[in-house]
Amino acid sequence: MRLQFLLLLFLTSIINAQTKQREIKELLTKVVPLAVQQYTRLEKATPDSSMPRSFTAKNNSLVFSDIKWWCSGFFPGSLWYIYELSNNASIKKMAEKRTWELAPMQYFTENHDLGFMIYCPFGNAYRLTKDSSYKSIIHNGAKSLLTRYRPSIQSIQSWESSSRLSCPVIIDNMMNLELLYWSSLNGGSPTSREIAITHANTTIKNHFRSDFSSYHVIDYDLQKGTILKKVTWQGLNDSSSWARGQSWGLYGFTMMYRFTKNEVYLKQAQGIANYLSSHPNLPADKIPYWDYNVTDDKMNFRDASAGAIMASALLELARYSTKADRVKYLNLAETIILSLGKSEYLSIDGESGGFLIKHNVGSLPHKSEVDASLTYADYYFLECLQRYKKWYL
Ligand code: GLY
Repeated sequence: MRLQFLLLLFLTSIINAQTKQREIKELLTKVVPLAVQQYTRLEKATPDSSMPRSFTAKNNSLVFSDIKWWCSGFFPGSLWYIYELSNNASIKKMAEKRTWELAPMQYFTENHDLGFMIYCPFGNAYRLTKDSSYKSIIHNGAKSLLTRYRPSIQSIQSWESSSRLSCPVIIDNMMNLELLYWSSLNGGSPTSREIAITHANTTIKNHFRSDFSSYHVIDYDLQKGTILKKVTWQGLNDSSSWARGQSWGLYGFTMMYRFTKNEVYLKQAQGIANYLSSHPNLPADKIPYWDYNVTDDKMNFRDASAGAIMASALLELARYSTKADRVKYLNLAETIILSLGKSEYLSIDGESGGFLIKHNVGSLPHKSEVDASLTYADYYFLECLQRYKKWYL
């Protein structure tokens, strides 16, 4: 009897996995032409040397940013993914044009966001074209980021000091390590990967709690090399789990395992994945609220960007994990992707000013971009589709 039950369970899980795979295949046939249309519209609406930043249904208007905004790289990066998925020549032209508009950012040293601003556009451009002129921009971007490394705290400083924070390092900073590591493996300085490893190790030591949730900001005393405080900037409170920060951590440690094959990073990523997947406040459609600790109904906005980043990371983590974990991570990623593909989250043609994904939160405590379309949600959703197609179809 027990054997029959286990067999039934096994067969059901295979059928479920096959169903989800088929549904994502169907989703791809719908999203790719939609993305071509939406991003063509968005590109036309965007002034030269500006990038689309957000859209809110309430104001029914697009907001643009200059190239110094931390998100400027996501629009060209998304265009590269759409080109990869569609093979559409005019999208490729747009991707090239918008990528080159960001070239001045290779020398930017005012914050840590070089990974997003340089690696997302130029990294994808090089991956898809092998044009070496993109590569030199990536190496220069890595050099600029290295100027922010602070030996006394074994970390890269995220933001400049302010009246509230002395030397802030945020969990998001894990994402910039991809630029450093890739550069170092592709003709850049070996120092880049040494610093990436040092930063990742300090992050494990100082950013994480025993349950694998993470603080958003660690504020350091640069002179003494000590921690001043562990706080939040975009989360509900200092001890809460800000949703996008948890996703950045998951993605960052999965990516560090890809490069190093260091089991410590794999365990860290799996610990985060297990914490998130079993969190009692993760809704049934697996799209997180903007903070896992939100309980107030008036504040329970979803952050689809946190879901998209988590799903993209889980697609990769599943490939490095053993059978039971692999099934769990892949299943969760598939659920998130399929939720994002439903009309609740996915814009229809002509909606959201050209963006794809609705219902994201930039920073709720700052009342900024609450329930908006945001470039990084689209970028990681498209990355999910590109990764799923490449690895699982
Ligand atoms: N790096 C800023 C954010 O995730 O909002």
